[in-house]
Amino acid sequence: MKQDLIEINISHPTTSKISQVDWDNLPFGKVFTDHMLVMDYKNGKWQSPEIVPFGPIPMHPAMSAIHYGQSIFEGMKAYSRENGDVVLFRPEMNAKRFMESCERLCMPAFDEELFVELVRKLVEVDKNWVPKKEGAALYIRPFIFGTDEAIGIKPSDTYKFVIFLCPVGAYYSQPVNVKIEEYYTRAAAGGVGRAKTAGNYAAALYPAKKGQENGYHQLLWTDAKEHKFIEESGTMNICFMINGTLVTPSEDEDTILRGTTKRTLVDVADKWGIPVEERKVSVEEIVKAIEDGTLNEAFGAGTAATIATIVKIGYRDGDFILSEPTEDDFSMKAKKYLDDLKAGKTEDPDGWCLVV
Ligand code: COI
Repeated sequence: MKQDLIEINISHPTTSKISQVDWDNLPFGKVFTDHMLVMDYKNGKWQSPEIVPFGPIPMHPAMSAIHYGQSIFEGMKAYSRENGDVVLFRPEMNAKRFMESCERLCMPAFDEELFVELVRKLVEVDKNWVPKKEGAALYIRPFIFGTDEAIGIKPSDTYKFVIFLCPVGAYYSQPVNVKIEEYYTRAAAGGVGRAKTAGNYAAALYPAKKGQENGYHQLLWTDAKEHKFIEESGTMNICFMINGTLVTPSEDEDTILRGTTKRTLVDVADKWGIPVEERKVSVEEIVKAIEDGTLNEAFGAGTAATIATIVKIGYRDGDFILSEPTEDDFSMKAKKYLDDLKAGKTEDPDGWCLVV
């Protein structure tokens, strides 16, 4: 076990809820562990973190986050291994993105190592909540929101950082249908699309709902200016295998969230000698690749979504039906490799797993 890097005061609930959990039927994001971590920002600095019983947070009706949207979050997972170890997967990448989101939303960032340590510590306290079943994990939700109790548009002077944990099953329990969106916009250049901020998800709800009414799980967002280039899918980044090359929209665009799972797939492809192109990906190119049979695979990549096979792409008035990948296809091989790595069944040469 790692040496604690910081002293944290811990208080426990009088009784644990763990015996009430139906481990064979875990919904996504609806079951919460016994503890949460809370750290306040006031008088220009972050105060001491505390681990407390999971429960409601008192809220003033004028709380700034509700009115002006200063709210950012992360999504991470902890996985259990047969030997009893629990691991986090590349948590430093989430820490980095979290602090970048803080900066974009005018919120006080803090040390990335401290972020990882706070996550580690909370997971350690609720370690017995990490599901053992294949495909399940402990979802970790760190977030910060502005807590000033006043109306008026300016960065909040006070904030709350919280981490809570949910044992979860699959986010998508089946292959996914997506629709290429050519009217609504998730993010415009110069906006907050790269930040993991609550408003991005709120703005996507209405168009996504329209898509869902027509049988699509998610939209494939295109650029705000011309709707010509594919960006991401809201719950996940997007990847295509075209003629043996992994093609994915470049993260240079500040409209796209920088995903840990997507970055890992690029790293895995590099390791395996598979050509990778991170660049602008046009709708036209994807339609052509489907039509001429060079699109081998389409899949989403995200912490919640994992590697999600896409079997239908809606475009304008029609649908393209894609065949499901076999176990020899890149997305399936990479999924198995990463599952094995997290489960400790294969070597971890890059040190991606941090044992809690
Ligand atoms: C995640 O992948 O962790 C997210 O935050 C996305 C959301 C669909 C749960």
